[in-house]
Amino acid sequence: LRASFASKAQKENDQNFNYNSQPQASYKVAVLGAAGGIGQPLALLIKMSPLISDLHLYDIANVKGVAADISHCNTPSQVRDFTGASELANCLKSVNVVVIPAGVPRKPGMTRDDLFNINAGIVRDLVSAVADNSPDAFIQIISNPVNSTVPIAAEVLKQKGVYDPKKLFGVTTLDVVRANTFVAQRKNLKLIDVDVPVVGGHAGITILPLLSKTKPSASFTDEEIEELTVRIQNAGTEVVEAKAGAGSATLSMAYAAARFVESSLRALDGDGDVYECSYVESDLTDLPFFASRVKLGRKGVEALIPSDLQGLTDYEQKALESLKPELMASIEKGIAFAQKQA
Ligand code: NAD
Ligand code: LMR
Repeated sequence: LRASFASKAQKENDQNFNYNSQPQASYKVAVLGAAGGIGQPLALLIKMSPLISDLHLYDIANVKGVAADISHCNTPSQVRDFTGASELANCLKSVNVVVIPAGVPRKPGMTRDDLFNINAGIVRDLVSAVADNSPDAFIQIISNPVNSTVPIAAEVLKQKGVYDPKKLFGVTTLDVVRANTFVAQRKNLKLIDVDVPVVGGHAGITILPLLSKTKPSASFTDEEIEELTVRIQNAGTEVVEAKAGAGSATLSMAYAAARFVESSLRALDGDGDVYECSYVESDLTDLPFFASRVKLGRKGVEALIPSDLQGLTDYEQKALESLKPELMASIEKGIAFAQKQA
């Protein structure tokens, strides 16, 4: 976003903004849960994208005002609001990307899995509508517990006969954003250069930052590895506790999701050099879903990047083995839920 939009905005004043030199704005994006803590700043950030022609904002309530507000920004996309189940089909017609931050967030003392009972049904119903109305769209799931909601989405899409594993993503970009920030701070590195792949899943020990694969290469003491790994794994809880009952990460999440959306749009637009970490159907391990770096292309996941899992340190290898039972249990819980409901 910064490269494609903000630097341009710095050069030209609002009145003279020259969209002719920007990429063609031609993609339609829907945000489901757009009036929420993540949804609002996410909608604002992606409104800044020069690649989006239509921005559809859906929620069960309070989305009209959000859409009216954001629609006044003088960027290319047309903003439309959709409220409630009766307007969901229209919201989803011929969209290219659907982002789903709908659902309840954690309060202190809760795990992400404690959200399952409410969010599993929300994700099931929303993905079912996506299957009916925009089966070719990239589907990006933010709603927790991501380790289970993505397998639920896959099952729903299978039941509808439209599952394309290359187009279903659990959004784990925030783990990478955090890892990059904390590593750059700890090692005094230039933030913009730092890239740390984070693999596994998106909850507690299933979040595995591969510090040995940090770019530019950096060396860490055992103490630093332990401290950074634990901080990255608990960063969501850090925010939940700081917010003291008022929810979980929203602003950093919106930033991370906007980056993932923009990367997806660049890939859709033919950029052949787009890589992001995401929780996807995977054969890199014995788990059916696994977060890793993926190459994004016009059709979604073009390739998984197995090299990240090669040459792991003993610490990372052990952490990888330890996360598998928990991640597998979350995957099975999601699949069982979706199959029981079918
Ligand atoms: P929030 O409560 O502020 O907003 C959620 C929004 O979803 C609300 O506007 C609500 O009306 C809407 N919603 C509820 N049911 C809906 C439905 N059936 N259809 C459409 N919209 C519906 O919560 P938030 O802080 O924005 O968090 C949303 C979710 O994102 C939570 O589950 C949270 O745990 C998750 N999250 C994930 C990550 C990640 O890294 N993947 C990071 C932060 C938060
Ligand atoms: C996060 O990592 O911030 C989110 O998954 C929200 C949470 O509950 O921690």
